[in-house]
Parts: sequence; structure tokens; C-alpha cells
Amino acid sequence: MTTTVNDELKAELLEIALDAAHRAGAFLRDTRPDDLGVAATKSSAVDVVTEMDIASEKLITGLLADRRPDDGVLGEEGASVEGSSGVQWVIDPIDGTVNYLYGLPNWSVSIAARKDGETIVGVVQAPMRAETYRAVLGEGAYVNDRPARVRPAPAFGMALVGTGFGYRAERRARQAEVVAHLIPEVRDIRRAGSAAIDLCDVATGRLDAYYERGLNAWDYAAGDLIAREAGALTGGRPGEPLSTDLTVAAPPGLFEPLQARLEELGAWHD
Ligand code: IPD
Repeated sequence: MTTTVNDELKAELLEIALDAAHRAGAFLRDTRPDDLGVAATKSSAVDVVTEMDIASEKLITGLLADRRPDDGVLGEEGASVEGSSGVQWVIDPIDGTVNYLYGLPNWSVSIAARKDGETIVGVVQAPMRAETYRAVLGEGAYVNDRPARVRPAPAFGMALVGTGFGYRAERRARQAEVVAHLIPEVRDIRRAGSAAIDLCDVATGRLDAYYERGLNAWDYAAGDLIAREAGALTGGRPGEPLSTDLTVAAPPGLFEPLQARLEELGAWHD
């Protein structure tokens, strides 16, 4: 599907996404309490929400409601607005919440804008890296103001591959089986803790590839567009778009064998 979206709308959505991501990122970086605790849990006891996830989502949705009151919103911490404009914002107010909770630097704010179901703007703000990744459909990807480009595909055995694990024990056990097969076949595996940043790391050549089962749209919507605009292919199972079942991102030449191997290993099911 290709949506015709005028340049003025793209520019407006990008400007708003950048503003919201910068504000939320600075707020999270500058006001993180030393005694940050868990406000609630979701799919399991280790799937946490902090007061800062909630405050960050409020900050972003408040700004969106002011600037674009007719748009829909889908946020990880429960924001859900139908909207009437055809534009929907998909927000992860902290991607990498466990890193944030522990004071590890690899966390981000992820904001995507979709028009009639297609992602047209993606922004990932990584405050502790002092980096903003952004892409507009058809207009390339950037890290701060430099163009982002994937690394050329290496041989499968030389690939540095990022991945992640879900929060439920049964899913993790299965994900560990898949990774146990893959690790002797590639250069190495990384588990950095923010899917949005992992996708941006493919976009900037810091990873050769990334895959994960079980992501939600707010984890991958912005990073997917940024990776594609930087030259990556993204998808799910062979012939399918990326989804909660499976997300795969890599440059052409590595994407195909990785996707095929993940299919053989049954990486899409628990
Ligand atoms: C999580 C991170 C993590 C991935 C998990 C996600 P959250 O998002 O992206 O890297 O492995 O699957 O749920 O919970 O920190 O927003």
C-alpha cells in the first residue's frame, strides 16, 4: 500500500514528532528519580511500568492533543484515541524501561505517525546517546543531521545480530532455544534492551541485523521506517510484513538468509 501524503503534512508530523520526542527525552533524562520504583506490572512480574513511563506518555499525548486534536493515538501505557483525521500516532514513552529502571543508558522514546495505516514519520530519541534518529517515508533516514545508512551485508557467519526477549518465562525459554542455534552460526549476538534502538542500530550500521518475536507496534513502528529508509529490508515470516509474531531487519543479502533460518528455527512461535 502506498499512501499519497502531501509534503506539508509530512513536514508538520515530523516537526511535531521531533518536538514531542525531544521534550519527553529531556524530561526522562533530567528528572529521573534516584529511587525510581515500579508503578505496576503487565504481562509478568518483570514487565514493569514506572511512574516515568506514565508521565512521559502524558507529556507526549498532551502535546499531540494540543497540536493535532483530531488524530488517533496508540500508546504503550494505555493511550487510545480513535481520531477522525486518518493520522494515528504510535508511541512508546520509554522503550527499554528495564534499562531505564536500572540506570542503564540504552533506552529511548519512540514516536511514529501513520496515515491510513502506513507509517510515514518515525522518530526515536535516545537521550543518553545524544542521538535522534528520524525518517520520513521516501525521504531517507538521519541520525542527528547525518544520513543513516545500513552496513553492506556481510556473509551470514560474519553478521552481528541483535535480538531481544519477551517478558513471559515460556516465551523466553523458546527464544533462548532459537538463539542457542543461531549463536554458533553468526559473528555474535547482542541484547541491548530497546527494540527501537536496535532497529536504529541496523539503520546506522552498528548492527548487521536484528530480529525479535513478540514486539508490539509501539516498539517497532518508528524504528521500522528508519531502518527501511536507511536501506534495510524489514519483515516478519517469509512473505509477511513485520508483526508481533516476528520482526526481522537487515540489509538485502543478509535479510533473506536470516529470515529463512528463523523460519526453520520456528522463531515466530512460543
Ligand atoms: C521492550 C524492549 C526490549 C524488547 C522487549 C520490549 P519496553 O520494550 O524493546 O528490548 O526485548 O520485547 O517489550 O517494555 O521497554 O517498552
